[in-house]
Amino acid sequence: MNDTIARWAGLLLILFPLLSTSQGDVTNARVLAESNGGEHWFTKGGSFRGDHYSPLDQVNAGNVRELGLAWSTELPIPDGTPTTPIVVDGVIYIGGAYSKVVAMDASDGRIIWTYDPDMKSVFAVNPRLSWISRANRGVAVWDRRVFVATADCRLIGIDARTGEHQWTQQVCDNDQGYSISDSPYVGGGKVFIGNAGSESEENNRGYVTAHDPATGTEIWRFYIVPSHIEEENDTPALKMAAKTWTGNTLETVGGGGNAWNEMTYDAESNQLFFGTSGSARYDYPSRSPEGGDNLFLSSIVAVNADTGEYNWHYQTVTEDSWDYNATMNIVVADVRIEGEDRETVLIAPKNGFHYALDRHTGELLTAGKYAKVNWATGINMETGRPDYDPAAEYWNAEDGEKIYFWPNFWGAHSWNPMAFHPGLGLTYIPVIDLPSEIDNQGNSEDVVMITEIDGQPHAPGKLVAIDPASQGIRWSVDHPLPYNGGIMATGGNLVFQGNSEGEFVAYAADTGTKLWSVQTGSAINASPASHALDGTQYIVIPIGLAGGLQYRYPEMHATERKQGPIRMMAFALGADATLVTDVADYPPLPEQPDLDATAEEIAIGEELYSAACRSCHGGEATARFGGSVPDLRYANAKTHATWHAIVVGGSRAANGMPSIEIPVEESEAIRNYVLSKSEEIRAAQ
Ligand code: HEC
Repeated sequence: MNDTIARWAGLLLILFPLLSTSQGDVTNARVLAESNGGEHWFTKGGSFRGDHYSPLDQVNAGNVRELGLAWSTELPIPDGTPTTPIVVDGVIYIGGAYSKVVAMDASDGRIIWTYDPDMKSVFAVNPRLSWISRANRGVAVWDRRVFVATADCRLIGIDARTGEHQWTQQVCDNDQGYSISDSPYVGGGKVFIGNAGSESEENNRGYVTAHDPATGTEIWRFYIVPSHIEEENDTPALKMAAKTWTGNTLETVGGGGNAWNEMTYDAESNQLFFGTSGSARYDYPSRSPEGGDNLFLSSIVAVNADTGEYNWHYQTVTEDSWDYNATMNIVVADVRIEGEDRETVLIAPKNGFHYALDRHTGELLTAGKYAKVNWATGINMETGRPDYDPAAEYWNAEDGEKIYFWPNFWGAHSWNPMAFHPGLGLTYIPVIDLPSEIDNQGNSEDVVMITEIDGQPHAPGKLVAIDPASQGIRWSVDHPLPYNGGIMATGGNLVFQGNSEGEFVAYAADTGTKLWSVQTGSAINASPASHALDGTQYIVIPIGLAGGLQYRYPEMHATERKQGPIRMMAFALGADATLVTDVADYPPLPEQPDLDATAEEIAIGEELYSAACRSCHGGEATARFGGSVPDLRYANAKTHATWHAIVVGGSRAANGMPSIEIPVEESEAIRNYVLSKSEEIRAAQ
């Protein structure tokens, strides 16, 4: 910090109480002027570079061992948060499950306000949204407002100082298969929002819209795929895209391509970068039988942030059949490639390749594998297109044969952001290194846990440091579980990551050496942020498994950590607040009816449970204690007595428990299976 800035910072500190009417005062000028100072974490990606990098170096590789807990606060978000906090002027803003929003005092963790858009009443009408809603990924802050989006497609503006609702704008329609799990993004005086729904069969066309932060009014809209109605393709980009589709997919299910995850606004080039997903017709031969690139699926798209006009695109998978979304976070980075300083964007899509593109033209500069890949042998640097490998062409498999494709449907990199260290020139990717198993009809196991290949140990989760110039892997750390938190790099030569085993870890950014860790008591799926207050650098991390993973694939997480508390934790050098990591023991079971079923009946119940209940109530019937979906092993005698009315009859539909269309005998088999799980707890106690 030079003297002038230091004086200004001092003055701001004195004035802060007076200025508190302007909380959340984020503008282009401020983000550009103050990002290099590191006092704030303005956007999910930290700054307009979206690199999840803090320039602060008070905490560094030399002293990180002295990092201690400054404070810890229980978050009133029952199913946790899988995202990155925003920190501006000493206030932390965080959103999570059910689009609940919390503002906290960054000095002590005191909750200033909370906002709840009341998703429960929405589930009564549309229970499908209850799962999507639990994966909500946070907020954006701009011009004294906080923005959050909901699974039922509301974009909401909130007063940053009071948490009061200011406006709601309906930005998509659930009836057309759209929903939103992501946060909005901000920049250049606009709020940007995408949507999800590429897998719906309701004629879905993904799009991104820009809105006025003061009113929510839509300013522009960019459609990611063309319409089947020619007149609706009224821009040069849509006309170009329309020529790349064959067959009738656009008419029958819509093209999809939805931008459902982290976008990056770049003030210097006045562009918005976003990634796009695939389509509801997964396999390319049936989606587009006479060829074509199906623009803009699986692409990085750059548009003019003021107008939404197309600037360029780069398509990562031209013939996608594996749901290889390119919606992972996009980093603005300056990289020296073959002796030339290049202005790039970096991305590591689901498909297992890490790319550097020219950020003004989309030209492919480098690409390299960061995980095990068998759908392509490489990327042709002349054409920018993948060289496909028949090993992953499941539609050509023999009848009854199952093949593995790597990476899996969930991707080698998902929503958990990667980070980039501009000083070291390295990208850090939270990697899921697993395949999907599938037959030629497209019947699949999304994820198959593999811990050994050809007799050698294989780590299903990794943290990989890769050089975007050479695409060489500099170092890699193994994780025993596949889904771990997002990454933050810092000017102190550090990389921070929370993992599924509940550890929050600092590694040396240059070598990957583990330098510090703390067992937080809860699995971590969120990403850290760093900021400075009164001369002290803080590192903040939300803990508690979230993002819906705890329901979908609970057996892939250390189950006792899954049960841990949901908290925001702040760490600083020399801080010594007491860390309470006790994992709650199983509480005593309530009075329950006796189990009266054969082992066969229980086994049938288990299968039915997996098909119809597990997505919400968790594998093995183990939903999180205190979460919004009950742990069915704890159902009391009254619930057992009214079981079929709840499950088949829909008597709790208004609370998000949908009526399940199964015969009463099947509901009874599930009840017996669940009761057998209660017996297991009873036996253990
Ligand atoms: C879309 C998510 C979802 C699915 C799928 C689902 N549930 Fe639920 N279930 C819920 C929610 C949310 C509640 C809590 C409702 C409330 O607060 O009253 C609940 C409550 C229940 C309860 C009451 C538990 C208690 O202790 O009060 C039972 C029993 C139940 N579910 C059984 C089932 C069974 C059996 C299946 C599968 C056949 C199933 N559920 C599928 C979301 C779901």
